[in-house]
Amino acid sequence: MTALSDAAIGILAVGAYAPAEVVTNAHYAARLDTTDEWITSRTGIKERRHAAQGESSSSLGIGAVKNLQERFPDALDGVNLVICATSSPDAMFPSTAALIAGGVNLRGAAAFDVSVACSGFLYALSVGYGMIRAGLARRALIVGSEVMSGAVDQNDRNTAILFGDGAGCVVLGEVPEGYGFQSFVLGADSAGGPHLYLRGAALRLPEGTEMGPHLTQNGREVFKFAVRTLGDSAEQAMRQAGMSTADIDWLVPHQANIRIIEAACQRFGLPLERAVTNLDRYGNTSAASIPLALAEAEAQGRFKDGDQLLLAGFGGGLSWGAAALKWWGGEGR
Ligand code: ACO
Repeated sequence: MTALSDAAIGILAVGAYAPAEVVTNAHYAARLDTTDEWITSRTGIKERRHAAQGESSSSLGIGAVKNLQERFPDALDGVNLVICATSSPDAMFPSTAALIAGGVNLRGAAAFDVSVACSGFLYALSVGYGMIRAGLARRALIVGSEVMSGAVDQNDRNTAILFGDGAGCVVLGEVPEGYGFQSFVLGADSAGGPHLYLRGAALRLPEGTEMGPHLTQNGREVFKFAVRTLGDSAEQAMRQAGMSTADIDWLVPHQANIRIIEAACQRFGLPLERAVTNLDRYGNTSAASIPLALAEAEAQGRFKDGDQLLLAGFGGGLSWGAAALKWWGGEGR
């Protein structure tokens, strides 16, 4: 993708929601062959949230949008597009986006899901951006929502400890000139597909890899891919925006593993405090992780007008996405 010539579409509002049940490392240490020390030192995760019986990606997503409405009461006015990034949809159809739209009084808005694993939110943002730019939508509600606790085998120490449930959302729309998105970088390469997969309607990948009922991951391969790709795509997004990584005020990365984020910060010469992290409390919430981190940081008043943000994610596909964004405080200021 190329740099965007006229960056006047940005984030107007944010929201987040996480289910109430906190699952600590001690929970897994009591059941699996693992320890709090191993999980903390290898991943940075201390606890994650699990959805209760009856909660789903749509109900978590609705929770996030209601939080956005409380914080930015007028932001949904004019929204006629809803996109939900999720790999744990309530159903193949109706789309989780349609269910969320129905739950927050946006019936009639165009609604569909985007499925790109942990990169999904960056992809959904770029689609929303593009549709507004093309005149196909006025404002877009972009949600990332996941119930990953049901996708992983809770008895598999390789994956269960990593993932959690949650949702985050943003409203995209016109922002004052000079603010908003400046570039998007998206990509995917199925050569690495067998390193991270979750079954769908078919039970095998084209390469012949058989799929069990749960998410399967080659952690070491995904780790190497993530360190390389997060840095490369983020750097490319900055270059396409006409800047260098020295201009970054905030890195908002996918929350998979603190060591992956540390590697990116090191590469960019960025102090770790300039990376928004909350994986210690939520684990990896896949497509929800970036909007959840964004919404928390915004609520803490960490971003100020004109801050240069860099959003970057990676995940199954294998896939990646990054975006450069000049922050505008939004309508609720
Ligand atoms: N507790 C104790 N030991 C464990 C655990 C655990 N929870 N999990 C794995 N181990 C063991 C392994 O079995 C292995 O044992 P072995 O040497 O006897 O084979 C040993 O620990 C070391 O395993 P590694 O895989 O080398 O450990 P590593 O330091 O790479 O950490 C981890 C593993 C945390 C999974 C890391 O590789 C990682 O974070 N990878 C990236 C994962 C990721 O980002 N996934 C999300 C992608 S986004 C998406 O789209 C879903």
